[in-house]
Amino acid sequence: MELRWQAVEQHLAAHLATHVATHQAAHQAAHQAAHPTQHQAFDHVSAHATSPVQPLIPDPVCAYIYDLPALTQHVQQVVASLPPRCEMYYAIKANSDLPILQTMAPLVAGFEASSGGELDWVRQHFPDAPLLFSGPGKLNSELASAIRYRVTALHAESRHELERLRALLPPGVRMPLYLRVNLALPDLRATTLMMGGKPSGFGIASDQIPALLDWLHGQPAFDLQGFHFHLLSHQLDPDAHLALIEQYLIQVQDWCERFGLDARRVNVGGGIGINYRQPDQQFDWPSFAQGLHRLLAAYPAIELLRFECGRYLTAACGYYAMQVQDIKTSFGQHYLVGRGGTHHFRTPQAQGHSHPFRIMAQEHWPGPRPELRQAKVTVVGQLCTPKDVLASDVPVQRVRVGDVLLFPLAGAYAWHISHTGFLRHAEPDWLVLR
Ligand SMILES: Cc1ncc(COP(=O)(O)O)c(C=O)c1O
Repeated sequence: MELRWQAVEQHLAAHLATHVATHQAAHQAAHQAAHPTQHQAFDHVSAHATSPVQPLIPDPVCAYIYDLPALTQHVQQVVASLPPRCEMYYAIKANSDLPILQTMAPLVAGFEASSGGELDWVRQHFPDAPLLFSGPGKLNSELASAIRYRVTALHAESRHELERLRALLPPGVRMPLYLRVNLALPDLRATTLMMGGKPSGFGIASDQIPALLDWLHGQPAFDLQGFHFHLLSHQLDPDAHLALIEQYLIQVQDWCERFGLDARRVNVGGGIGINYRQPDQQFDWPSFAQGLHRLLAAYPAIELLRFECGRYLTAACGYYAMQVQDIKTSFGQHYLVGRGGTHHFRTPQAQGHSHPFRIMAQEHWPGPRPELRQAKVTVVGQLCTPKDVLASDVPVQRVRVGDVLLFPLAGAYAWHISHTGFLRHAEPDWLVLR
């Protein structure tokens, strides 16, 4: 997805100007209310008779900005590149904010939810959207919601889960079902975030699938439609991902043939990565899409290949902005203290990277402006933990208090994975480009 820096910076600049003006007007009004006689004297008698209102330096700003036109264009391109028999769902765990979901709804085949809260959220706002229910540790109350909401498919994580689901299904109602499989693959190339391909709490180990298929044979409450795989996230290599998907297809064909199943739909999960460390080297989606065309042509018996991507769809539409509120040097190392922190934007901490950012110079700042030139800086936030670091050892030309640090690639697993209750700091501002 193209990063539209200029549009984002313009939008943010307008917000900052309003912020300063609103802050100063509020301060003036508060001062006036507290010292009415002084103001009368100031207004009507003599400008020198009393002390004027001291301008208060406004609090620095932090904000999320979502670029919805960029999101639309990106998702349209991704979906248009898919071959026939292939569809794209959106895994809303990446970012379930309403402007994002409203933008996505007409573009994707549906939504994937991984909790009762996500199911409720989708149904509340999109009563008719196709909806998948997956995720580990499903509660009975969540299974009951899935039945009530008539989900498009439920991804079962264990036989015990299926037994609980069966007990909840009303007579005559069949649940469209995929089995979530943890497939052992000896040659699987690991990424930095693995959910399977090795012992894990996710899905059903592939060596247990034959016994489960035998059991399912006598269960009319379940309409087994296919299999679901999500072994990893952060995939940056299109060829490796195509090879992985091919392994899924081979396995599904094998089970269908061996057990006489008509369950040739394959949900291949999400997992396409974002390169935070080298932002100009992103996953080559066009080459991946070409490979998908070839792959599906080679497996005509596969009825449907379904994606449920999160990160790759929304990461690049989001930005997190922090205004610098202090600059410090500690034993030779320089620190920018930003308004906000990892309680809003935990992505760099969660993935263990130094997040890229741009400095948006602010010409006007109504307070003192310590500055650094030609230095390496580490960006920290407002939390009382040494883990509140967003970027480390980044060379900068010049940075001042009041300048804005703008972090791109903040539209997925950002706000929604952050420990927002820590220290009860205020939320960031929310800005949307439409
Ligand atoms: C079952 C499942 N599907 C889809 C996704 C989305 O993955 P990604 O955001 O890497 O595309 C995840 C992420 O954890 C997942 O667990």
